[in-house]
Amino acid sequence: MTEKPINKTSLLFVCLGNICRSPAADAIMHKVVKDAGDEDLFYIDSAGTYGGHAGSLPDPRMRAHGARRGYVFDHLSRRIKTEDFERFDYIFAMDDANYDDLRRLAPTIEARDKVLRIADYFEHYQADCVFDPYYGGADGFENVLNLLEDACQVIYKKLKAGLLL
Ligand code: 4NP
Repeated sequence: MTEKPINKTSLLFVCLGNICRSPAADAIMHKVVKDAGDEDLFYIDSAGTYGGHAGSLPDPRMRAHGARRGYVFDHLSRRIKTEDFERFDYIFAMDDANYDDLRRLAPTIEARDKVLRIADYFEHYQADCVFDPYYGGADGFENVLNLLEDACQVIYKKLKAGLLL
């Protein structure tokens, strides 16, 4: 995407590597809006604060766990760009390190205020963040999916109700 999408609410999900959590959030949110028949109203993407995996598909473990729930995680990793802060209406950080990095990278105060903590949108779980599953086991990947399915539903409901920001 090179320009701000017209007449669409744009959502960017951000983690560190953009190969585990944020591509999962991206795909889950796509499914939430598709299932609601609202695909045309949203532009959804994901990115990482670290560019070391740029161009890669999501981690095979994340893809396998997602596939068991019917998701196809096929986003290619990319690093966040300065223009993303202009293009996107809402930028969701997966953990506090991502949140701090994003707020530091934001080029303007308005851009900084677009950065939100995804943990503020959990309804059925109590957690401070979507924990990084990269160095852990299968439970971590299931936990990512549980938290993101919860948060994406809440974010969608709040957006539809005009209650986000
Ligand atoms: P993600 O997970 O931020 O959810 O994509 C990670 C991916 C890669 C690394 C760390 C976390 N890494 O250190 O390369």
